[in-house]
Amino acid sequence: MAITHRTQVIIIGAGPSGLLLAALLHQAGIDHVIVERQSPDYVLGRIRAGLLEQGTTDLLHAVGAGERLAREGLHHDAFALTFKGGFHRINISDRQQGRFMTVYGQTEVTRDLMTLRTQHGRSTYYNAQDVSIHDFDTPTPSVQFSHVGDNGQRSEHHITARFIAGCDGYHGVCRASVPASSIQMFEKIYPFGWLGILTDTPPVYHDVTYSNTDRGFALSSMRSATRSRYYIQCSNDEKAENWSDEAFWTEFKQRIDPEAAERLITGPSIEKSIAPLRSFVAEPMRFGSLFLAGDAAHIVPPTGAKGLNLAAGDVSVLAQAISAYFNEHTESEINNYSARCLRRVWNAERFSWWFTSLMHRFPDTGAFGQRIQEAELDYLMRSEAALCAITENYVGMAY
Ligand code: APR
Ligand code: PHB
Repeated sequence: MAITHRTQVIIIGAGPSGLLLAALLHQAGIDHVIVERQSPDYVLGRIRAGLLEQGTTDLLHAVGAGERLAREGLHHDAFALTFKGGFHRINISDRQQGRFMTVYGQTEVTRDLMTLRTQHGRSTYYNAQDVSIHDFDTPTPSVQFSHVGDNGQRSEHHITARFIAGCDGYHGVCRASVPASSIQMFEKIYPFGWLGILTDTPPVYHDVTYSNTDRGFALSSMRSATRSRYYIQCSNDEKAENWSDEAFWTEFKQRIDPEAAERLITGPSIEKSIAPLRSFVAEPMRFGSLFLAGDAAHIVPPTGAKGLNLAAGDVSVLAQAISAYFNEHTESEINNYSARCLRRVWNAERFSWWFTSLMHRFPDTGAFGQRIQEAELDYLMRSEAALCAITENYVGMAY
């Protein structure tokens, strides 16, 4: 026997998009449930980027999930590039009316949003199996799944709602349920990935630093004064388990400027993984009563760390639209959701693609492509207009 319920909004996925949307709907007094395929520990085990735009930190504060962020987040008013052995600090705040970035791991954002949800006492079905969505071309869409409760008993659930929010990531069920004739997808796969490590060593640079070298790209980031996050560009067929910590450090040292290499403190990795680089957009982001948000609708390569910030932008627009629908009985924001998000999404897609192109070694662009990249780096450091453009995009366009 299926257990049937009715609510206003069903959120599929309890990653940062789903949890932040839930917090915003809670604030607007809108009834909702979250259905997540994994366990909370599994969700928290995913290590992702850690750079928040001001719009994202503002949202986290507005929903009441900003207390630890305010205490532990690192305020960054600049980032840096290294190329041809030189270090170039690029100040953001001086060029962008005092705006800045905050370094705070996505895992911590997720943890804070989970804690907030527990405080709200709202229901989340973790470990949901065989999740399927139905009738989203009607005003009464529904979701079915099976769930094993705390008492070990399996039950079948059938939930109906006015809207479904597909916050279920790139591999989720929501986008996959849309008929092929109703959706258009744009994709670019890059011919490399990032091998990343997390390590309890002090960061080699004060600023998040992007390095372009003959051996490939490297990124030096951090989580705190004693924890570093470092990445190196690697080929798509590499396996993280084939990289010893020693091999990583040897390669990484050769990709940062010589002074930094001299002072670099190495140590054992506490996490090591490879992420492929991809640009992806699905259009539109709304199908009747179904909305896509976050990674379910778009992926950016991690250069510039726009993924989580784009997701936060989507759910902010979506929560406002859903709230206007239920609380003010207006549909115009619902109708504008896709176009409004896609404008911001394509802007971030363009920036992430450009910044990736600027900083990586491409196996297939030849000597001409290489010279063009060098000319672009040279222009960037000599032109105040170019520096304004990179910092405007890096710190995030308003939404
Ligand atoms: N049913 C229920 N939940 C599902 C299903 C399904 N069929 N498929 C996937 N999920 C869950 C995943 O287990 C995951 O917890 O949806 C969640 C999606 O979370 P994310 O992949 O983190 O996506 P999102 O919340 O949009 O976060 C965007 O994460 O991937 C980064 O760069 C990205 O930083 C950005 C942010
Ligand atoms: C990170 O800290 O993981 C990070 C920082 C900046 C990026 C990407 C990732 O551009």
